[in-house]
Amino acid sequence: MTKPTFYVTTPIYYPSGKLHIGHTYTTVAADAIARFKRFSGYDVKFLTGTDEHGEKIQKKAKEAGMSEIDFLDAQIADIKALWEKLEITNDDFIRTTEDRHEKAIQKIFTKLYEQGDIYKGEYEGHYCVPCESFWTDTQLLEGGKCPDCGRETELVKEESYFFKLSKYEDRIRDLFESGFVYPESRKNEMIKNFLDPGLEDLSVTRTSFDWGIKVPFDEKHVIYVWIDALCNYITALGYGSNNIDEYRKYWPADVHFVAKEIVRFHTIIWPAILMALDLPLPKKVFGHGWILFADDKMSKSKGNIVYPGPMIERYGVDALKYFLLREFSFGQDGSYTHRNFVNRINSDLANDLGNLVSRTVSMVEKYNDGILVKNDTKTEFDESLIETYKQSRADFEKSMNEFMFHEALENIWKLVRRTNKYIDETAPWVLAKDEANKDILNNVLYNLCESIRLSATMFSSLLPETARKIFDQLGIAGQEDLYNWESVDTFGLLPDGTKVHKGESLFPRLDVEEEIKTLEEMFEEKKIEDAKPLEHKEEITIDDFDKVEMRVGKIIKCEKHPKADRLLVSQVKLGSEERQIVSGIAKWYKPEEMVGKSVIVVCNLKPVKLRGILSQGMILAAGDDGDDLVIPEAIGAKDGAEVR
Ligand code: MSP
Repeated sequence: MTKPTFYVTTPIYYPSGKLHIGHTYTTVAADAIARFKRFSGYDVKFLTGTDEHGEKIQKKAKEAGMSEIDFLDAQIADIKALWEKLEITNDDFIRTTEDRHEKAIQKIFTKLYEQGDIYKGEYEGHYCVPCESFWTDTQLLEGGKCPDCGRETELVKEESYFFKLSKYEDRIRDLFESGFVYPESRKNEMIKNFLDPGLEDLSVTRTSFDWGIKVPFDEKHVIYVWIDALCNYITALGYGSNNIDEYRKYWPADVHFVAKEIVRFHTIIWPAILMALDLPLPKKVFGHGWILFADDKMSKSKGNIVYPGPMIERYGVDALKYFLLREFSFGQDGSYTHRNFVNRINSDLANDLGNLVSRTVSMVEKYNDGILVKNDTKTEFDESLIETYKQSRADFEKSMNEFMFHEALENIWKLVRRTNKYIDETAPWVLAKDEANKDILNNVLYNLCESIRLSATMFSSLLPETARKIFDQLGIAGQEDLYNWESVDTFGLLPDGTKVHKGESLFPRLDVEEEIKTLEEMFEEKKIEDAKPLEHKEEITIDDFDKVEMRVGKIIKCEKHPKADRLLVSQVKLGSEERQIVSGIAKWYKPEEMVGKSVIVVCNLKPVKLRGILSQGMILAAGDDGDDLVIPEAIGAKDGAEVR
């Protein structure tokens, strides 16, 4: 009998930086569902990969002094190593720089062009030079400023190819009604924000950079991110190549896992591309929430990123997996805090599960030399324990099939906690005192082990390492029929005579305050590691340096530039001279703060007009475009004095 298929994907991540627990979250969730589906009888295809084109990657490679592909190879090696550490069971890993992908994208693009779904036009957008980004009218801040850095943008026109997105508007509206976007709230956002205002055709090529897949019939254009990236889900299956067996077998995808910021691309643009190609649409797009850090989005520039590597090192793979899957409700945003992390591990993993396993195994060793005996001597608490197991099993399966991982785990933990209660109710240490209770005691110990077996079997798709350790302690490692999916249907499968043996503690208890401190230090260190290596300019001689004339200048007047919000116009006294200098410092200094400062001026720079106002030199400033630009002062120095 052929198995039903199940195809699940993660976004293909940008390998421009190191992946953090946000990326880990999606991948761990996709892995859990892939494992669960395999476990419950499906032929699964689980795809992840990397999105390797675009200006940002090119820039990063340049900063690192490497070729694009060398830079990428190193990044991808790190990403693959991380997934391996996390025991991620992806069946394929697609890189958009691979031949199999690039060739297929060129074919797709050509086909869409030839059939008229792609046409050549002119792209007009507001370009922010420092951010190297285009923005649409609606994205711009007041006064036409860049939404990222707040600076002025320029209106730029560029030849571009366009995809006829507008043509598919009605069909996409119908699609939303068919319930393919999860959770439901995302659907409403999409309709209100994008469909109701009307879909515009989409610019799908660029000529401003060249790190991308070339348009085969017009090589000065590269195919811009979304056609390139989204189509990975089919090119990885061989679509566009000579061998489309996998495509035939697995497409359409059962679910694409993404976070909310790219739901639009996956629920509007991607279906439209597939409609144009006349291909079936994915069955579901699940837009999960964001992991926030103290209610803020994690980002490198804010220095608040939590990386998985050090967490795994210290707490183990499953502690991180459990936290990610249990703490956050999959559709919604949630905040990461060190305290939540430590508390979760302590209460659920160390206390509830770890204690249950170690207490139980110890008691079997202590009271019956580690041997399990199966008999019919029931206690008055057995029925309720078995009832909880039945409910837990049914609810667990339902939550997994709805991708509600936090609920799935909570449903298992209901059984774990009920089992702990069963220990308190039956008090085996009291039973052990009287030889007459031997049968009851054996039955209690058997039921405890059986509950543990069932819990671990259920969570084996989510916490595989912990499940393995438990099967080992229960003495059933290798006997798969005792922990396969069918085995969760029966309470009472552990064979009579099974020998358990105590292993290491699964999750040692943490000292909350100590541990929070350790985590804070761990990520403080990471911030330092994140600091960019300095980039040095070409060496110069002292004669070169001598060419630059720098002097102390006293600011006697300063006002805002009448036409540019980021500029200030200062009148600077340099001994007997007075000059006017325009500087891009309005974001950091008010005009009145500048007056009276003794600053350092580069005097022999060729004068230029900045937005119509003459600037005769430059005031030195320290810092980058972040939040902390500072103007160094030569306090106490005479104006006009040379700086050497
Ligand atoms: N390359 C595109 C995706 C193309 S898919 C055809 C991209 N890459 S990304 O590296 O920015 O990854 C974004 C994805 O990473 C999110 O959609 C989500 O799956 C995951 N996450 C990144 N940060 C996250 C959080 N802080 N919280 C939850 N998920 C996050 O976009």
